[in-house]
Order: sequence, then C-alpha cells, then structure tokens
Amino acid sequence: ELGTYPHYMIKEINEQPQVMRKIIKEYQDDNGELKIDKNIVKQLNDADRLYIIAAGTSYHAGLIGKEYFEKWAGVPTEVHVASELVYNTPLLSERPLFIFISQSGETADSRAVLVDIKNKGYQSLTITNVPGSTLSREADETLILHAGPEIAVASTKAYVAQIAVLAITAAVTARELNKVSDMNLMSELGKVTTAITSVIDDASKIEEIVKSYLETARNAFFIGRALDYYVGLEGALKLKEISYIQAEGFAGGELKHGTIALIEKGTPVFALSTQEKVDLNIRSNAQEVAARGANVCVVAMEGLEQEGDAYVIPKVDEMLTPLVSVVIYQLISYYAALHRGNDVDKPRNLAKSVTVE
Ligand code: M6R
Repeated sequence: ELGTYPHYMIKEINEQPQVMRKIIKEYQDDNGELKIDKNIVKQLNDADRLYIIAAGTSYHAGLIGKEYFEKWAGVPTEVHVASELVYNTPLLSERPLFIFISQSGETADSRAVLVDIKNKGYQSLTITNVPGSTLSREADETLILHAGPEIAVASTKAYVAQIAVLAITAAVTARELNKVSDMNLMSELGKVTTAITSVIDDASKIEEIVKSYLETARNAFFIGRALDYYVGLEGALKLKEISYIQAEGFAGGELKHGTIALIEKGTPVFALSTQEKVDLNIRSNAQEVAARGANVCVVAMEGLEQEGDAYVIPKVDEMLTPLVSVVIYQLISYYAALHRGNDVDKPRNLAKSVTVE
C-alpha cells in the first residue's frame, strides 16, 4: 500500500491535491453548481446557530469552518472541544444544529456529546472520512470527506478535506440564504489544488528549513493572526505529536502578554502571514521576538512577501490560505520527526482513533 513512499504520512501529504480534486468533483452537480444533500440543506436552513464539535486536528479545522459560516453565510457558529462541551454545556440557542467533525467517526469524546444532544432532541450532522462509522450512523445526516484511508496517526489529508468540505457547506448555506458572493468557490479550490502541488514539489526546500530552524530545538512557537492563528495551532500540534519538540501555537498579539518570556537566543518561531489586514501586525510580532534572539521563520503569501522570508506560498483566495499553508507545517513536522529518527507514522503514546473518553 505504501508504494514507493517510506511512510504513510508523506504519502498522505502527497495525496492532498488528489483529495482536493475528488472533493471538487463530488460536491458539484452537472452544471458546476455546489451540491449537498437536500436534507442537510434543510438542517442548515432551519438552524439559528451552529455548534461545531471535534477534537485535536478536527477541532482546528472547525475553527476555520466557523469563519466560513459566519463570514459567508452570516450564521452564528461556535466551535467546541468535545471533551469540554460534554460536561460543560454552553447556553444553547433555540434551534441549534450540532456539526461533528471527525476523521475516524469513532472519537469517544465527540460521541458522548452526540448521545447527549440526541437525547435532548437536537439535530446533528457528522462530517467524517469513514462512511458507516459510529458518528455517521448515529447522527441524523452525514457528509463524507472523500480523503481515502488515513493511516498515519498524524492527520494531514483529512484536515485539508475537512476545511474544503466545510467551505463548500458554508457556501451552500450562504447561497440558500441569498447572500451574494463574488467568489466562485470551486474554481478557487482548483487554484488551491495547484498551490498545494507546488508546496509539495518544494519538499526539499522545506527540509532545508527544518535543518536551519529545528535540528537541535527543544521547543518552538507558531504565531499568526486570524486564520493564520488557527493554522499555527495545527502546526504546533503536528510538530509535537511526531517530533516530540514542545510546541505552542498562539495569536501573535498574545505574545507580549506572557509567552514572550520564553523566547531565548535561538528559539524557533514560525510566523505565518497570509492575511493582508494583519500582515503588518504579525511582522511586528515577529520583530519583537527576533529582537530577543528568536530564530524567526516567516512564511508569507505571495503579494505580502518581504526580503528574508523563509518561504512564499503561491497566492490563493485569502479565506482559503489554510489549505495551503498547513502543508508547509505538515512537511516541517514530517522532516523534523524523520531527522530525529522517530517512528513518523506511529508516534509514542498515541492511537489513530481515540475510542475512550
Ligand atoms: O478521528 P478524529 O478526527 O475524531 O480524531 C480527532 C483527534 O484525535 C485527531 O485529530 C488527533 O488530534 C490527530 N492525531 C492529530 O494529528
């Protein structure tokens, strides 16, 4: 099954353009219009607030999904870590729709929430990679990720698929609510696919970044603002789970409220800038840490790049940049783990799906 790849993780990273193409095909009708099941459209139309429930990487995808539902469709959306919500339920709206995001569809923490909200009579939708999984069977409706089997413990292609399917679902919701959009989502997702391919083609360049920034690092930070903040959370999770480097993702503006105390000479800090309105802010955060000795690696989107940036991402729609920027962090994590001689696909202490609460 691995073919010529040394590990499932790198195979799955490389499959991402193919996954994007499959999603574009599956969620489009013959006229090129976005298409999702009419029962799901009804669920979305009927809801006055969305509650996205997930864990780990799927939670990070949910944070990005919230931006789509709110910015494109104007539907208030909350994102919750499943294990927290189950014992600490927030005040619910009158007509909530619970959206479960889970690669495996077997995560016990998410299932506990599903059981509880079903008992209360609320509507549920599962977005999963595994048709027939527990969360799919038990929810009212299901959307499939079409990412193909994900074997490596570190989730990569499922995250990208989750964001793409959330974008499509939010765009359909916006259309149903007659929100005008000047964006042709499917054609933008096509551009994203090309951009992902070009990042993957740069794998050896990204391996060099690992050599410059992470070879002897004991800890690392990932900063960003807006969508880039959420990608930083995912970058940090990916790095820690397979390289065992202590990593933290946080909002650039939060640095000076505490974390900057940890910056020492040589501390690697990854700063992501793909959002024009906060580009100057994140660059000034990068300077703040550089002035204290940090080894700052700036990853910027084409059009925002400056001299000295370590990597420039091909230009895509600003709302869709996470689909591309995360691939750099996936590759950075992969090479960091590989260079340390770790078991990339089966990191210590972790299971692919967490079936106990
Ligand atoms: O199967 P799920 O998407 O529900 O899994 C949720 C998390 O356990 C999972 O994303 C985990 O964080 C990954 N190991 C991250 O790479």
